[in-house]
Amino acid sequence: AYTAAPFVPDDRRDLDALRAAAAGCRGCPLHRDATQTVFGAGGVDARVMLVGEQPGDQEDRQGRPFVGPAGKLLDRALAEAGIDPGEAYVTNAVKHFKFTRAEPHRRRLHKSPTLREVAACGPWLAAELALVEPELVVVLGATAGKALLGSSFRVTQVRGTVLEQEIHGRRERLVPTVHPSSVLRAQGADREAAYQGLVSDLRVAARVLS
Ligand code: URA
Ligand code: SF4
Repeated sequence: AYTAAPFVPDDRRDLDALRAAAAGCRGCPLHRDATQTVFGAGGVDARVMLVGEQPGDQEDRQGRPFVGPAGKLLDRALAEAGIDPGEAYVTNAVKHFKFTRAEPHRRRLHKSPTLREVAACGPWLAAELALVEPELVVVLGATAGKALLGSSFRVTQVRGTVLEQEIHGRRERLVPTVHPSSVLRAQGADREAAYQGLVSDLRVAARVLS
């Protein structure tokens, strides 16, 4: 089976060591076509960890999570909900960009990772959780939900609620919500409603942290 496990260092005392090791991960085939590993960003003392799906085109080029359009929207929603985006730790279930080339101009189009790829990358997420020990995990969308809570996760059933679950041997508190990209995909009045839904879920997270 694909797994990042052999690439995760035994000495997991700091995020920089983890990040450096993740740069050389070949635990699944996604490293082949992507530009670089996009590891989590933020302080080891962050109280809240946000988990997305995988880096997008901009993140792949810049090497940092949530720096593209979805990240901009997420930062705005976080601030509106009362969570300082600069104080959060942000990461993804999968650390390499998966894409197909589409005409015209062979533009790189996001492709969802498979459950096998999500499982393969899990040891990095587990290592991040163990080091940062966040008080709260905000689960952004179905892929992050399946990575953390299992394949039966359904975002519509649990969004905006506070869950408690043992994950990788640690008791975690989680608030699931939609992925910010799903807000960007909505059109017209639906987009504003989707955005307000995201902000309202993030307010639940802000209340847990207050
Ligand atoms: N979408 C994600 O899930 N993660 C990113 O880092 C960017 C977009
Ligand atoms: Fe390793 Fe994850 Fe990248 Fe696969 S996606 S190569 S498991 S870092």
